[in-house]
Amino acid sequence: MAKKYNIAVIPGDGIGPEITSAAIEVLEAAAKSKEIEIVARELKAGGEAVDQFGIPLPQETISAAKDSDAVLLGAVGGPKWDNVDPEVRPEKALLGLRSGLGLYANIRPVKVYDELKAASPLKNPGNIDFVIVRELTGGIYFGKIGSYQSGDRLSDGTVKGKVAYDTESYSEGEINRILKIAFELAMTRRKKLTLVDKANVLLTSRMWRRLASQMAYDYPEVEFDCLYVDNAAMQIISRPSTFDVIVTSNLFGDILSDEAGQIAGSIGMLPSASLGAAGTPGMYEPIHGSAPDLAGQNKANPLACILSAAMMMRMQFGEEEIASDIENAVKKTLESGLRTSDITFVGEGTNIKLVGTKEITQAVIENL
Ligand code: IPM
Ligand code: MG
Repeated sequence: MAKKYNIAVIPGDGIGPEITSAAIEVLEAAAKSKEIEIVARELKAGGEAVDQFGIPLPQETISAAKDSDAVLLGAVGGPKWDNVDPEVRPEKALLGLRSGLGLYANIRPVKVYDELKAASPLKNPGNIDFVIVRELTGGIYFGKIGSYQSGDRLSDGTVKGKVAYDTESYSEGEINRILKIAFELAMTRRKKLTLVDKANVLLTSRMWRRLASQMAYDYPEVEFDCLYVDNAAMQIISRPSTFDVIVTSNLFGDILSDEAGQIAGSIGMLPSASLGAAGTPGMYEPIHGSAPDLAGQNKANPLACILSAAMMMRMQFGEEEIASDIENAVKKTLESGLRTSDITFVGEGTNIKLVGTKEITQAVIENL
């Protein structure tokens, strides 16, 4: 075969193994028709690694991920590890991969398929098609952590109990590089960019606003505006179809992308890409979690992971055709009426058929 892509696959926990193997199967089938070979290497991270090695992110995993062309991740975590030392929680694997690979830009597209409009909790979802650009290696997720210390000051001046803190801090460099990604992305789309912040309270937000307003001069074609995060949470529900690109900090992006996932019918439909410097491997993963209650039962929706593989083809390798082949196959599969349990709902048409992870994956492959 002419070309070969080395993919580091991190299945992780819960439904992770089922959905990543589904995505790799689809990817192999889609790439084969273009004479491209997909070489998948499985790596351990998350709860599975905690159980085996006592740590969530073994050195071998991070080194092999760095050596790969791109990383495909399922999901990590689950209630089984709720009581482990916070330093070795499975989620730490995700944060370690993000910072270890320098993946500062998290791209989370939100789209409602016509076939799934009735699954959206919105009465009239309209034509929803926007992208959340979330800063991923800074802010409160990577800020200073205070251990529980005594000396909690109450607002009445008394001292009682312990205190803990996590600090939100951002440098101008961190903000500018993510803003640039967002402005550039807006230029390839409907040329609208919304900065979501809390500039009425937070100093870091005021810095985001100042830098974004400055950068807006370099992109005169982009219609730029700002929203406070509380207001944005409301507007995403009340006028979702008016958003194009949203750029925001790590924590706000985390919260708003779950909210947006729900209006798209199911969080089980939303893919994501996490990108670093040009030429370095990005990480592609569904935005949903490990859904331990569904694990191992052939019930998980693999479409978000499959769509993440499509994003990988487009954004990492510039394989636009393979990416759109996969996306069209997903659309066809939904059109044909196949659904996993998260995207079925009362009152649907008669052609709807509830199927499992394996069946919907096979259908996507046949529809390629
Ligand atoms: C996400 C997840 C992670 C995050 C968790 C699992 C650490 O919610 O990717 O959105 O908060 O970033
Ligand atoms: Mg999240």
